[in-house]
Amino acid sequence: MTSSSPSVLAPLTHLGIIMDGNGRWARSRGLKRIEGHKAAETSIHESVEYCGETGIGYLTLYAFSTENWKRPRAEVGFIMALLKRFIRRNIDSLDQNRVRVRATGRLNDLPAGPLRELRSAMERTAGNDGLQLILALSYGGRAELVDGFRRIAGMVRNGDISPEGITEDTISSSLYLPDVPDPDLVIRTSGELRLSNFLLWQSAYSELYFTDVLWPDFRKKHLMEAVEEYRRRRRRFGEVDDV
Ligand code: FPP
Repeated sequence: MTSSSPSVLAPLTHLGIIMDGNGRWARSRGLKRIEGHKAAETSIHESVEYCGETGIGYLTLYAFSTENWKRPRAEVGFIMALLKRFIRRNIDSLDQNRVRVRATGRLNDLPAGPLRELRSAMERTAGNDGLQLILALSYGGRAELVDGFRRIAGMVRNGDISPEGITEDTISSSLYLPDVPDPDLVIRTSGELRLSNFLLWQSAYSELYFTDVLWPDFRKKHLMEAVEEYRRRRRRFGEVDDV
């Protein structure tokens, strides 16, 4: 083993993906942007399969941000319809593969139809012990912190906690999915080099991986490459490794 190869491969429990580039993928083919969102489904399937096959515990997909509501009405409507159709078409196979469907975000902002489908998928798969597939919908890291701080402020007002008693754990446990571990690796497709409000608190020590591949072109082999690079990284969490 060379000095550059760590003796212990970094474990990968939670993978987050910022699925970007659908619009550019479509435009580069002379298609409407919505065709890119449609084509994104294959990449989602491959990512879910890969995580199931390799024993990754949690996969969070950034499907719709709090900022995405500002897109043209027709595009928002299309994405919401796609979400509903995606769940309908895939719920049997997800359930058979013991996938637990979950969601994070301001879910009450979603239109009634997709929300009903989502809630029914979450209830149906709540007891599954395989991959936890977390859809980030109407999600924003800042909005999540605002919601969490409001909850903590309520606890302070009720005298359940003192301001001095607030710790990092208090904040972590006030977020939408407090039982989910922080993401180990966050992948963003399409060449943009930013987090765009994705899991801001939770990604403090996440490894970041950026690729130029547009989301609809993203396949298992690309995911494998990202995971292989991640496994070679040394995660120090602010400490040193040669004490
Ligand atoms: C980013 O590409 C993609 C989105 C904001 C929407 C993602 C939606 C889906 C993958 C489909 C619905 C979700 C599920 C779970 C079925 P972009 O449009 O920002 O691309 P661009 O940066 O090239 O314009």
